[in-house]
Amino acid sequence: LGYFTYDPGFMATGSCESGITFIDGDEGILLHRGYKIAELAEQSDFLEVCYLLLNGELPNAGQKQEFDQGITYHTMVHEQMQFFLRGFRRDAHPMAVMTGMVGGMSAFYHDSLDIHDPHQRMVSAHRLIAKMPTLAAMAYKYSIGQPVVYPRNEMSYSENFLHMMFGVPCEDWKSNPVITKAMDRILILHADHEQNASTSTVRLAGSSGANPFACIAAGIASLWGPAHGGANEAVLSMLQQIGHKDRIPEFVKRAKDKNDSFRLMGFGHRVYKNYDPRATVMQKTCHEVLSQLGVKDPLLDLAMELERIALEDPYFVERKLYPNVDFYSGIILRAMGFPTSMFTVLFAVARTVGWISQWKEMIEDPSQKIGRPRQLYTGETERPFVPLAKRG
Ligand code: CMC
Repeated sequence: LGYFTYDPGFMATGSCESGITFIDGDEGILLHRGYKIAELAEQSDFLEVCYLLLNGELPNAGQKQEFDQGITYHTMVHEQMQFFLRGFRRDAHPMAVMTGMVGGMSAFYHDSLDIHDPHQRMVSAHRLIAKMPTLAAMAYKYSIGQPVVYPRNEMSYSENFLHMMFGVPCEDWKSNPVITKAMDRILILHADHEQNASTSTVRLAGSSGANPFACIAAGIASLWGPAHGGANEAVLSMLQQIGHKDRIPEFVKRAKDKNDSFRLMGFGHRVYKNYDPRATVMQKTCHEVLSQLGVKDPLLDLAMELERIALEDPYFVERKLYPNVDFYSGIILRAMGFPTSMFTVLFAVARTVGWISQWKEMIEDPSQKIGRPRQLYTGETERPFVPLAKRG
């Protein structure tokens, strides 16, 4: 090919230098700024992880307080966003609403275009992290016809999100510490994952100097697909479709059939050729949450049996296909009261910090150029134009 390499799906292309997230897919290791994902999930909270991803270090007590206050300061969205929201069909998928609303926010924050001002970059990051749960809850409330619930800044990030999702004006909303803790952990597990499709999309969009809100909207669009963030929703649909343990072999057989487009959702990963370390924490959290809430979900037994059968099958063993982060997340979210259509939205809420940290890192990298892949042209060679009257 001469001066460029043909690499469909960018299987072997490094597109940037990054100091944010490290993955060793063969060993099943995921580190954020050097810290193991399991330690962060067990011992940290989501806003602390946000600070870490954005700034490179864990905050001290004073920095944490200042950061938490800085985020909560931005939790409300412009009241005009309510009119924008009402323009959507009630039955719109909340990911469609999120793509539109987050992109639409670029019309409200002209100052965010000043991407070369470090202070302004940080303000945009704070605004995005703060407003995503508000927008997500607005999309949900609109879909079920309930009034929008405004943020409460004395609550923690996760507690406030749950309050905006499940609170109603006519009665007091009481938080459940088990659900709040699980929410925080789920957000941490999804916070960043180096150069995946949506993050690369954000970087590519941002490489032209576009408004960061529009770049994040591009990331949300990319995340929506079932091969990426939409997998958590697809896992639950798949488990419901399987319905009973007796039918697992039939679906495993279909997943192996190259003439059938069906794949085991929540299985396999471009980078992990070992157990996804996020799936390990997610599975543990799933058991904890269900037992603490006293929920007995037959889909959990079905998922565990499906995992057992797949991991003993030579097809999955040879290809190193293991459960990924999405395999168990849907079951927890269901137990927490989230409808399936909101699963990928939650992923987007969590991943916003990863996207904006990567965007910020890219803007601050003096070696970064506009993203512009090449192609392998397979079309016609040059030929003369034929006037309409002479075309057969
Ligand atoms: N079920 C059955 N076969 C599979 C699966 C699966 N879930 N995943 C991969 N394979 C097979 C695939 O058919 C191929 O077989 P062969 O070599 O015989 O052609 C081989 O394994 C390699 O697959 P690939 O498609 O070349 O691998 P990829 O790196 O391009 O795709 C993936 C990675 C995640 C898109 C894919 O594993 C998949 O579609 N999984 C199901 C969807 C899913 O769970 N996505 C969530 C990913 S994790 C969360 C996130 O990052 O968003």
